[in-house]
Amino acid sequence: MDYVKFGVIGCGGAWNFHRLGCKNVPQLKFTAAHDVDEKNLKRAVKFQKCEGFSKLDDLLNSDIDAVLVLVPHFLHKDIVVAAAEAGKHVLCEKPMATTLEECDEMIAATNKAGVKFMIAENHRFLPAHVTIKDMLDNGIIGDVFLGRTYEGAFCPADEFLNPNRWNFTYDKGGGGVVADQGVHKFTMLTWLLGEVDSAQCWLGKALDSPPTKGEDNAIILLRFKSGAMVTVDLSSVTVHPLTNRTELHGTKGTILEDHAWEKPIQVFSSHDEAKVKGEFYSIEVDHGPYPQYYTIAAREEDSYFANCILNDKTPEFAPEQARAGVAVVLLSYLSAKRGSITHMDELVEIYKSKGTKSVLNGLLEVTQMNYKKMKW
Ligand SMILES: NC(=O)c1ccc[n+]([C@@H]2O[C@H](COP(=O)([O-])OP(=O)(O)OC[C@H]3O[C@@H](n4cnc5c(N)ncnc54)[C@H](O)[C@@H]3O)[C@@H](O)[C@H]2O)c1
Repeated sequence: MDYVKFGVIGCGGAWNFHRLGCKNVPQLKFTAAHDVDEKNLKRAVKFQKCEGFSKLDDLLNSDIDAVLVLVPHFLHKDIVVAAAEAGKHVLCEKPMATTLEECDEMIAATNKAGVKFMIAENHRFLPAHVTIKDMLDNGIIGDVFLGRTYEGAFCPADEFLNPNRWNFTYDKGGGGVVADQGVHKFTMLTWLLGEVDSAQCWLGKALDSPPTKGEDNAIILLRFKSGAMVTVDLSSVTVHPLTNRTELHGTKGTILEDHAWEKPIQVFSSHDEAKVKGEFYSIEVDHGPYPQYYTIAAREEDSYFANCILNDKTPEFAPEQARAGVAVVLLSYLSAKRGSITHMDELVEIYKSKGTKSVLNGLLEVTQMNYKKMKW
């Protein structure tokens, strides 16, 4: 096999950055597409010059090696399971699913079918984040004890205000900004800092969105088993182009990262191996402020997954690590409901008893209605 033939399932917004990011990637081709929306399917077929299938089964029975799943969150589990059962390798957008039980079913089905399975979590593949991970592994800032991280996006108001759109809904999206954007930060932080011990979370609505829609702002305080304490600030309504930011402080230095900067990483370190000792210095990585860093990450993650298929390697970013990000989403929601610091053990208890879907009930009642004091 010279390249991997991918069938795309769901040709909406996310399809654009995968398509643009992989334009010149020789290891893969998007040769087929399926969407329940005829207009979106036609557009994808026209742009990509690929074969269109209006039925999922027909796509899965076609001559493709893998699927790229880009559908609303509540559909991830069923579509991933169907693709695995059809013997296709699966790359699926974040969040892995809306509950831990769905994640388990996806892992079991892909293991049983013996296909490769990875979540397309762009924060695991952004060159800036890979560089930060290398620096932490090499001790450049020592042991991290404190941090903060932010993702802010100015989403089209339609996504929150239109009751017919699935985005940010409790039932189809698995919640608001914590499920949609927080999962990026949680998956990145658990990769960098290890397991989460406990969380404290506040949820707010700055927009007067329908009651079916979740929070558009949140603050989560995370304590890691390592002892590190990190603040996670999330918003879908901040008025600037999409960006994300991370600040980590360790026993030998500090890393500042902002995807709105041309050079997204600044480091201060007292480590002997630091590029410059005792002064802030920047690091060159493949990057451009939004939307470039999105297409760069799509290129990195999609080509990495294609290489795993071509070389029969198991992706290093295991589905269990993506599941850990979903666990922190649910832990945050549980904390918001309890109004207190909540331990991961308490979520595990719920997982073992009534199931984690129960965590998603009653979130509206614990969300601050901040829009009442705001003029947009
Ligand atoms: N990495 C990122 O930062 C990022 C950014 C945007 C979206 N995403 C993720 O990509 C996924 C898709 O989001 P989006 O913004 O493209 O949503 P979207 O609503 O723009 O597109 C979803 C597409 O799926 C289609 N669809 C719905 N039900 C379907 C079904 N049963 N079978 C086949 N197609 C179906 C819709 O018609 C639509 O074309 C989500 O998981 C989302 O979180 C990730």
